[in-house]
Amino acid sequence: MNFELLNLDAAQAGHEKCDVLLLLLTSTFKAGRNPLSSLISKALKAGDLADKPGSLLDIYRPVGLACARLVLVQLADGKPGSVRKGVAAAVALIKAAKPKQLTLCFDQAPGSQALHVALSTVAEASYVYTTTLSKAEARTLARVRLGVPNSTELATPFAQSVATVRGIELAKEWANRPANHATPSHLARAAQALAKLPRIKCDVMNHKEVEKLGMGAFLAVAQGSAEPLKFIELHYKGAAKNQPPVVLVGKGITFDSGGISIKPAAEMDEMKYDMCGAASVLGVFKALAELQPDINVVGLIPSCENLPSSRAVKPGDVVTSMSGQTIEILNTDAEGRLVLCDALTYAERFKPQAVIDIATLTGACVIALGGVRSGFFSSDAALSAAMAQASEASQDLCWPMPLDDDYAEGLKTSYADVANVAGRPGGAITAAKFLQRFTGKYPWGHLDIAGSAWKSGAAKGATGRPVGLLLHYVLSLQTPAA
Ligand code: BES
Ligand code: MN
Ligand code: ZN
Repeated sequence: MNFELLNLDAAQAGHEKCDVLLLLLTSTFKAGRNPLSSLISKALKAGDLADKPGSLLDIYRPVGLACARLVLVQLADGKPGSVRKGVAAAVALIKAAKPKQLTLCFDQAPGSQALHVALSTVAEASYVYTTTLSKAEARTLARVRLGVPNSTELATPFAQSVATVRGIELAKEWANRPANHATPSHLARAAQALAKLPRIKCDVMNHKEVEKLGMGAFLAVAQGSAEPLKFIELHYKGAAKNQPPVVLVGKGITFDSGGISIKPAAEMDEMKYDMCGAASVLGVFKALAELQPDINVVGLIPSCENLPSSRAVKPGDVVTSMSGQTIEILNTDAEGRLVLCDALTYAERFKPQAVIDIATLTGACVIALGGVRSGFFSSDAALSAAMAQASEASQDLCWPMPLDDDYAEGLKTSYADVANVAGRPGGAITAAKFLQRFTGKYPWGHLDIAGSAWKSGAAKGATGRPVGLLLHYVLSLQTPAA
C-alpha cells in the first residue's frame, strides 16, 4: 500500500479526482465558499450527519465535485479515539466496493497524532492475511492519499507514520502465521532478510553457541522440541560506535503448549502468538531501516518452541542461567521469563543506555489491563517518563505497573536461587520481579503485551503492537536538530 501526503484545503479537495473521498469533519468545521463546504453545511443543518464520532453520510457522484463517491466522516471532538472510530467506520462502509485508491481529507489542520491514527486505521481496517490460504484475495486498496492544509509541517510525522505502518504490518504478518509456518528458523530468516536493508546487521546463534554462552534457562525451554532454537541478534547502526544502544529483547516462543505443565486445549492455538514480542522487534527494525535515524539499536530474540516430550524439562528441575543464578522450574509454562533472563544477561555486553523486553508474558496481565494498554514495568524514572510520553504520542498505550520488592517473596525456594513462579496473585508483577533479577547492570523496562498483541474471537488476529510505542520511544532518543 502506498501513502502520499497532499496539501489540500476543503476547496481543493472538491477538485480531487478519485474513486472515494473521505472527508473527515470535526465539530469546529468552518464552511468556506466552495461546493464541498456548502454541501457539508447543508448536511449538518439538515441533521443528516450526527455529531457522534463514526457517523457517516455516503454520497454518490456529488454535483460539482470531482470524486465519484464522497463519504462525510464525523470525528466530532477529533480526539485520537474518535479519529479511529470514524476512519474505521468509513473504511468498513466502502470495503464492499473494493476501491483501489482512497483519498482522506481533514477539514482543518490535524496534529501529527490525528494524522497517524487516521493512517494506521486505514491500514488496520484494510489488512488481510493471505499467506496460508490457497485462494486468498489480497488487499485491493493500493493507494492512499492524505490531504491536509498543513502538509509541510507534517512531512516528518507523516514519514514516521508510514514507516510505523510498515513495521506494524511486518509484525502482524509474522505473528499471524501458524506456528508451523513461523518456526525459530523462519524468524531467523526473516531477520536475516532485514539485514539486506541499509545499516542493519543480523547474526543468528544456534544451539551450540547458546550452550557455550551458558544460557541454561533458554536451553531448558528449547530442549523439549525437535525444532532447533535460534538466538537472533539484530543491529541497527545509525550513530557513532561509542553511542550506547537501546536493546530491545523480544520473547520468541513460536508455540507455547506449556510443556510438561501443559495448557488446557481450549484456545491453545492462540499460543502461536507467543512470539509477538519477537515480531514487534522485527517490525521496529523494518521501520528503522526506512527512517534511518541517528541512533543505535540492538534487537535480541531468543526463539524456540515450548513442548512436552521425553526430553522436556520437568517441574522441579533446577537449571543454571547465563548469569550464574540457579532457577528451580516449578512450572514449565512460565517459560517466557526463562528465555528472556538469559537474553537480558547477554544484553549487558552492549553497555546499553536502556534495555526493554517485550513479551506475551502472563495471562495475569490480560486480567489486569485487558487489551487496551500493555503493562509497563520499570524502576528507572527517565525510562518510565519517556515511555509514558511515547504511549500518548503513538496511541499505542501502556500503563505503569509496580515493582515493590515484597512481590518477589513468592519466588523464594530452598532448591535454587530463585523459582520461576510465585502464586497466582499479582502474576504479571511476580513475573517482572523474576526478570528484574537479571537486569542490574542497566536501566531496564519490561512490556507485558499478553493482552494487547492479538485479538481473540471472531476478529482473531495480531495487532502489530507495540511497534508504534517502541518506535516512538527509540526515535525520541535522536539527537535534536541543531
Ligand atoms: N505465553 C503465556 C502467557 C499468556 C497466556 C499470554 C495467555 C496470553 C494469553 C506464558 O508463557 C504463560 O504460560 N504464563 C503463565 C505463567 C504461570 C504459569 C505462572 C500464565 O500466565 O498462566
Ligand atoms: Mn507459557
Ligand atoms: Zn509463553
